[in-house]
Amino acid sequence: MSNKVYIFDTTLRDGEQVPGCQLNTIEKIEVAKQLEKLGVDIIEAGFPVSSPGDFNSVVEISKAVSNPVICALTRAVKKDIEVAADALKNAKKGRIHTGIGTSFYHINYKLKSNPEEIIKRGVEAVKYARNFVDDVEFYAEDAGRTDNEYLARVVEAVIAAGATVVNIPDTTGYCLPQEYGEKIAYLMNNVPNIDKAIISTHCHNDLGMATANTITGILNGARQVEVTVNGIGERAGNTSLEEVAMAIKSHKELDLETSINSKEIIKSSRLVSTLMRMPVQPNKAIVGRNAFAHSSGIHQDGVLKNRENYEIIDPAEVGVKESSIVLTARSGRAALKHRLQVLGYDFEPQELDEVYQRFLELADKKKDITDEDLQILAGKGQNKENKPIQLELLQVICGKSTVPTATVQVSFNGDVFTETASGNGPIDAAFTAVKALIKRRVRLEEFLIQAITRGSDDLGKVHVQVEHKGQTYYGFAAHTDIITASVEAFLDAVGKIA
Ligand code: KIV
Ligand code: ZN
Repeated sequence: MSNKVYIFDTTLRDGEQVPGCQLNTIEKIEVAKQLEKLGVDIIEAGFPVSSPGDFNSVVEISKAVSNPVICALTRAVKKDIEVAADALKNAKKGRIHTGIGTSFYHINYKLKSNPEEIIKRGVEAVKYARNFVDDVEFYAEDAGRTDNEYLARVVEAVIAAGATVVNIPDTTGYCLPQEYGEKIAYLMNNVPNIDKAIISTHCHNDLGMATANTITGILNGARQVEVTVNGIGERAGNTSLEEVAMAIKSHKELDLETSINSKEIIKSSRLVSTLMRMPVQPNKAIVGRNAFAHSSGIHQDGVLKNRENYEIIDPAEVGVKESSIVLTARSGRAALKHRLQVLGYDFEPQELDEVYQRFLELADKKKDITDEDLQILAGKGQNKENKPIQLELLQVICGKSTVPTATVQVSFNGDVFTETASGNGPIDAAFTAVKALIKRRVRLEEFLIQAITRGSDDLGKVHVQVEHKGQTYYGFAAHTDIITASVEAFLDAVGKIA
């Protein structure tokens, strides 16, 4: 058996079914192009009969990408298959994915049919689809809850009818890993013509087992996996692409391979999350914000001695620049010393003890300690006079039924300049004015306002992160007026651009 596991990405079909995650055709093309860079083998681009928009997306994605196979979903219905074939006419390699429910629930309550009739309809659908394309995948919907003996008869019949891939979906995410693995093993051992097709996994995450089920499916003979970026999908989602790809890559002893270029994983994750307005949970495996962040003292000390003490994946392998040491109240002296050294401060042990005590006091009040906080703690906070850009004047007009407008006056090494701009709020207006003043293309990557004591008279602390020519710059400021603090933090960051 081949050791190649085909990656079938259904972010744009099963993933896009999630309420609120709908994409327009242009956005889908952007995702499809990124999936091509990521190295997926098959892109399920949509369900063409479901809407003109889905039809159009399959047409346009077929034109826009060339390496992956483009797949279109259908029910076991002639009209669906004809529409899918039409949508795929520009695809260099096109696949029709047709199928029908095979579980007791689906046969009796959804389709109001009987097992023999279902096999007949499945076979007819596959034969009909083969008139249009050579590559036909059949799905036995709710295979997870389908009796194995009956499922084997369905699989044998559709392969005989011309299916090149047979998908065994755990549609409701019900199976346990062992159960799903045994199902695949049963098919591998009891379907006489199984060598004529590839068996595919398609697992949902209702019990949090999707990745485990997919991996046991592979271990028992499946050679295609249906996955989505960030694991998005119906209800609790589908199997996440990055988890399966990295599990295979990390476990060399499995002797399996995929064509995924893992360095494109983070980029793909962020693109899907942004376009679909679906935040990634911070502790999500591989792509979560905390996936490579270490916050407890013992772990930080271990990672600083040798990354592999607490990391099984080098973050660079998935496109993350480096692991992060997050300074919190649980951090130890080793992490603090390391961060201070990165910032250019070297302390004698006793001095370090003093800074560490001050650090703990602040960390009890504030969740994360930033570089600016450390500079202040180290007694080397930034001196206003040393800043190349100074905010001289800030005037904003905002409120209900008003176009937010800001006038910003700054001095660059003594020369004074003024600019006025509008925006979707006073901070946006002020940032637009600053960008016009500095005449540089900067992109705001992160913007965080924090208050320490939560009172309305509190000091607002603002952290910003901006990008200029691929380089990241950080800025910080504190003021009782949060708009002033925001503009000063922004100026602090742009002032660091050489
Ligand atoms: O979960 C499922 O069964 C599906 C099929 C349509 C393949 O998404
Ligand atoms: Zn599904």
